[in-house]
Amino acid sequence: MDKKLLEIIFDNVYNGIYIVDGQAVTIAVNKAFEEMSGITNAELVGKSLYDLVGEGNYFSGSASLLVIEHRRPVTATYSTKTNRKLLVKGRPIFNPDGEIEYIVNTIWDLTVVQYSQQIDSDTARSQMLAEEDIITCSERMMHVIDLAQRVASTDSTILLTGESGVGKSLLAKMIHRASERKSAQIMQINCAAIPETLIESELFGYEAGSFTGADRKGKPGLFEMAHGGTIFLDEISELPLHLQSKLLGVIQDHEFFRVGGRKVHKVDVRIMAATNKDIAALVAAGKFREDLYYRLNVVPISIPPLRERREDIPALIRYFTDKYNRKYNSYKKLSESLINQMVGMAWKGNIRELENSVERYIVTSPVDHIGSEHAMFEADNVLAEGTTLKQILHQHEQKVLLKAYRQYGTTRRVAAALGISQASAARKLKGLRQQPRKPEPAGKNE
Ligand SMILES: Nc1ncnc2c1ncn2[C@@H]1O[C@H](COP(=O)(O)OP(=O)(O)OP(=O)(O)O)[C@@H](O)[C@H]1O
Ligand SMILES: [Mg+2]
Repeated sequence: MDKKLLEIIFDNVYNGIYIVDGQAVTIAVNKAFEEMSGITNAELVGKSLYDLVGEGNYFSGSASLLVIEHRRPVTATYSTKTNRKLLVKGRPIFNPDGEIEYIVNTIWDLTVVQYSQQIDSDTARSQMLAEEDIITCSERMMHVIDLAQRVASTDSTILLTGESGVGKSLLAKMIHRASERKSAQIMQINCAAIPETLIESELFGYEAGSFTGADRKGKPGLFEMAHGGTIFLDEISELPLHLQSKLLGVIQDHEFFRVGGRKVHKVDVRIMAATNKDIAALVAAGKFREDLYYRLNVVPISIPPLRERREDIPALIRYFTDKYNRKYNSYKKLSESLINQMVGMAWKGNIRELENSVERYIVTSPVDHIGSEHAMFEADNVLAEGTTLKQILHQHEQKVLLKAYRQYGTTRRVAAALGISQASAARKLKGLRQQPRKPEPAGKNE
């Protein structure tokens, strides 16, 4: 293909393109990027992303820097100094020596142009999802995001599943912002957090005088407020059965009555729901309507738990470290050994738990360089009920020894790494090792 044609393509595709070299120096951005970001090619060319990223700077973060750090494709969302929100997919191009020669970033615009101040201030009833970014370098997660982007532009109902803290709410918000509906509201309700007696009026609103304590004038519900936009029903499994049938009606006919009302309200709303329960099992047990389940489950999106995408952990740790350093005005850093240790943990609370741990380390560490002793006794990862301190210490010792043995391969090197004698390393490892190894020559530590 000749150069002129390539340039024509570069400047006429709908996605933004941002190309840097292996040192993160900007080579070129295309017209679509200039338009969506409000930042020109001339401002950026020749500048290093290391200098363009940071608080108050051009970009809140950079996929290219993550690509350089992890040597693999990365997907992330960022904001710009021009107040735009961008979804960036960065891909490394390697030279024959295996060095990164270029990084090609493809960019989608997630900026919300208009936004209603009036509804936004009414946060007691509904809350706009907070501004948060997605960071991932796991292939499975990138497939999830690809799928989410593909269905974003349709009106299909989406059911997001995954354990608590995996990022369901975050993804719901991204889908809304990647859709044609982004200039209207996304209204969220957590069906588990609101008393059963109030959910109906929250969702559908009520007419004047429909129940005691109700507002005299009546009030619109979330469905009316989300008109033209999206409604996100979190913890859908907790929706009471009688409301499940009312919801089914809205999905089928796009209309409903307010509580105590006689007037039919028509709405144009995209429905997303999320759950960390096994809804199919609830259907089987008669606790969730089967017909509603099928109506909601048009596009199922399942988000894998963090322990099944451990490659995301280091990048997330750095992201959260940065976030909380900014929040607490500190310059703390987690050591490589602590990061490695965290990569191996269970993370039952997924990304939320990881984020909380990073925040806790930053807040509680008296030193700037935070070492692995801080993660020693993460409650959720180590404690089981009914264990004594002695048992916990013993379990932990075994874990450390096994890990060291896997890493170093001989009791002599384990002893050296952990600062114990080889005899004691050998004794402690006895019975822990699955296969006996051939005898090793005694080391200096003996
Ligand atoms: N890929 C990611 N990159 C950065 N932050 C993330 C990512 N995924 C989740 N988070 C953060 O982790 C926290 C938990 O995510 P979120 O609230 O979306 O989880 P959830 O699946 O909705 O949990 P729950 O089931 O408890 O509602 C949030 O603060 C979110 O911003
Ligand atoms: Mg959630």
